[in-house]
Amino acid sequence: MSESMAIRGGSPLSGAITVQGAKNAALPVMASALLLRGRRLTLERVPNLRDIHTMSDLLRHLGAEINFENGRMTIDVPEELKWETPAELVRKMRASSLVLGPLIARCGEAVLPLPGGCAIGSRPIDFHLKGLARMGAAIDLEQGSVHAVTSGLSATRVTFDFPSVGATENLLMTAALTPGESVIENAAREPEISNLAQTLRAMGAYVEGDGTGTITVRGTRELESATVRIIPDRIEASTYLLAGLMTRGDITVNGINPEYLAALLSKLREAGVDFITTPNSVALDAAGKNWNGVTLTTSPYPGFPTDVQPQITAALCMAEGTSVIHESVFDSRYVHVPELRRMGGKIDTLGNTLIVIGVPKLSAGEVRASDLRAGAALILMGLAAEGRTVVRELKHVWRGYENLMEKMASLGARVELLPVEDGDE
Ligand code: UD1
Repeated sequence: MSESMAIRGGSPLSGAITVQGAKNAALPVMASALLLRGRRLTLERVPNLRDIHTMSDLLRHLGAEINFENGRMTIDVPEELKWETPAELVRKMRASSLVLGPLIARCGEAVLPLPGGCAIGSRPIDFHLKGLARMGAAIDLEQGSVHAVTSGLSATRVTFDFPSVGATENLLMTAALTPGESVIENAAREPEISNLAQTLRAMGAYVEGDGTGTITVRGTRELESATVRIIPDRIEASTYLLAGLMTRGDITVNGINPEYLAALLSKLREAGVDFITTPNSVALDAAGKNWNGVTLTTSPYPGFPTDVQPQITAALCMAEGTSVIHESVFDSRYVHVPELRRMGGKIDTLGNTLIVIGVPKLSAGEVRASDLRAGAALILMGLAAEGRTVVRELKHVWRGYENLMEKMASLGARVELLPVEDGDE
């Protein structure tokens, strides 16, 4: 059962929004609270999202006490924690795997059913497990669950085959509570990793090199209470900028460091889109303008983010000329393509590459969100297409966009939430 959104599209969006705290920074930072013993982690600018509630439920199940109001969250962690995680929570969200490292480091044991999350290709956690095994955890896979146990972890050097965001975060947290010097090589460089590193530093661990491919951690047996502010959400910011573009509107996104958006902004510049940046905002003016097709490949930060691939694919459906989009992070992140086609997008697939032939107009229609960013892309299509579009299965979208209806309405979007109907799944 999930709500739907009706959109009367075809008119320009105009105005300003302030970006929410980053979902993908808040989730690992919340998990890092488990490293504490009888201490408190206080977080500011936490977005009010479904995934955040799932992580809260998981931490509560393990024994933490959580208060969350107006973006401020306190997580009080008791001396004793549970270390078995329940399948019904873990399967809701892949980021549940982020509690694995902290639990092993803190309790010496952890059980994690294999996690769920967006349906975007095969998403194993083998890098996480290999890294934890190198630090001294014995890992067993039993009946769809990971069982990890250790009689003591040791600081070490871990080199990832691929700069996985989640694996880097899990190892970073584990190393922070493991005395000695650990080095993570081929680490992910995302800004969200730096937000986690900042949290661990505030707790008293030594972390250096975040934002580069080599992170050095000197861990300690006991970490302290800390207060941290979650960084702005670059994926939300990108989505609103693309909404401004696709509706030929003018939108200012406030509270974002444009450096986080460098890969997107560089492609927009190449496409001939006008925008102005300040140290904490981006203003895009697309009124009465057209844009050109571009070629892009998604890759780990600072490359083009895979989490913006569905939304830019939507925007390039209306470009002048042809675009080529290559997805290199996930092996099948094209579940949105059939739905974009239903709304007039001319898209051919060639293995892991999309060929998008720009059309002057999209058509309104009834479509279904299959995952979080696919849902965002369909909403953008609906805003751009004249007529009434209905996007179903909004539950995926609630995982990542705070106050979506209010924010869009404030930009002049004509959107309406439809109640769950009989026959809806
Ligand atoms: C994080 C983000 C997600 C984003 C992704 C890539 C969070 C909560 N989620 O997900 O929104 O799309 O980064 O920017 O921050 N892989 C393996 N084995 C592993 C781990 C990863 O093969 O052990 C593969 C994955 O299948 C995928 C690629 O590596 O193909 C990237 O995954 P990863 O960077 O780990 O993404 P997540 O941390 O899951």
